[in-house]
Amino acid sequence: MKLADKRGLETDVYQPAEDSHLLATTASERIDDGDFVLEVGTGSGYVVETIADETGARAIGSDLNPHACERARDRGLEAVRADLLTPFAASTFDAVVFNPPYLPTDPDNEWDDWMEHALSGGESGREVIDRFLTDVGRVLSPDGVVLLLVSSLTGVEEVVERAGEEGFSAVAVADESFPYETLTVLELVR
Ligand SMILES: C[S@@+](CC[C@H](N)C(=O)[O-])C[C@H]1O[C@@H](n2cnc3c(N)ncnc32)[C@H](O)[C@@H]1O
Repeated sequence: MKLADKRGLETDVYQPAEDSHLLATTASERIDDGDFVLEVGTGSGYVVETIADETGARAIGSDLNPHACERARDRGLEAVRADLLTPFAASTFDAVVFNPPYLPTDPDNEWDDWMEHALSGGESGREVIDRFLTDVGRVLSPDGVVLLLVSSLTGVEEVVERAGEEGFSAVAVADESFPYETLTVLELVR
């Protein structure tokens, strides 16, 4: 089924937007060519492709949405269908990058399609982020970093606090303000 994304385009796959650009640019400045990088929730593959092109790093994408994996593969990228980090082995990646579904949504008003998976972070806006934070330390190499995009709509302080509970310290390394939200890229290190 084809569905409308937040900019009204008909698609099964999230199309790159301001959040994608901010994450792609910030990650490309912080990743080195020898790194092995995972982008969780790759969507169209735009972010992981930018990182690979700009840095020379080996970068792969993953997504729960099979249409997204297909779209990323059409761009010549490696894409794994996965629920967050489930299939990935311990201590594998030098960097994990994620532009998560982060909009707080009313549980009575969910829309049950691939665009909901791309946008909805559940009632708090942090349900997918919290699951991600619980497991991401497992797949990181000892000096690995996480670059996580969050929005003022999601609650940046709450994400920082949750990351702290998982043993990460978080620093905001980029932000950009729009009339309806401020986007921030958090860098998490242990
Ligand atoms: C906001 S979109 C970002 C897409 C792309 N990375 C970008 O920045 O343009 C979030 C993506 O996360 C994916 N996603 C949502 N829940 C997921 C999960 N549990 N495991 C893997 N991917 C997930 C969605 O399918 C969607 O492609």
